[in-house]
Amino acid sequence: SFGRMLEAVASARLVPVVSLASVEQALPLADALIAGGIAAVEITLRTASGVGAIAALAGYSDRLTVGAGTVVSPEQLDEVADAGAEFVISPGIDEAVVRRSLARGILPIPGVATASEVQLAQRLGLGAVKAFPASLLGGPGFVRAMRGPFPEMRFLPSGGVSLANAAEYLATPGVLAVSGSWMVPDDAVASSDWERIAALGAAAMAALGA
Ligand code: 3PG
Repeated sequence: SFGRMLEAVASARLVPVVSLASVEQALPLADALIAGGIAAVEITLRTASGVGAIAALAGYSDRLTVGAGTVVSPEQLDEVADAGAEFVISPGIDEAVVRRSLARGILPIPGVATASEVQLAQRLGLGAVKAFPASLLGGPGFVRAMRGPFPEMRFLPSGGVSLANAAEYLATPGVLAVSGSWMVPDDAVASSDWERIAALGAAAMAALGA
């Protein structure tokens, strides 16, 4: 159910954003994230291996909630639904993508940067949105401001979240979880430095008090 998927993201607290150069990286990446105490991941479609990587992680669903990122069309939504994604994140909000996601039974978390977009998300029946790019929107203050007119909406701040500010975001009422890429640096992925990724994940979770 959508509620269960939403709570899986909430209880993970931190959603790493990862772009993989090859499907073969998916399993060692997942093992490293789990070793670091991370319970959810967003695999983006910014690389051609994104859909294959999501499919490769099907057997991890009991330890890792796997979502798709940078999903910008209904066709991509179908691809990641077929691959087994449990949630779908987009940089912006697109009604056709949201409706297809709901129809496929996958939790959509579209990006918002304005009240109009939060209002649209609410009208489409959504309970959570991505606040992107969170640091440029004003950080935790953006969530506090939006919770005035939209007191039920929950936010996934992303973009400029860091080890230094993640805890402040998470302590803000209405924040579902935080997301970011700092614990999976591109060079560490490229060099298969899984130990470093596990250590960065553990440091991130420790900073969140998790
Ligand atoms: C993204 O879509 O790239 C995410 O929001 C991650 O942002 P970050 O790289 O600033 O953490």
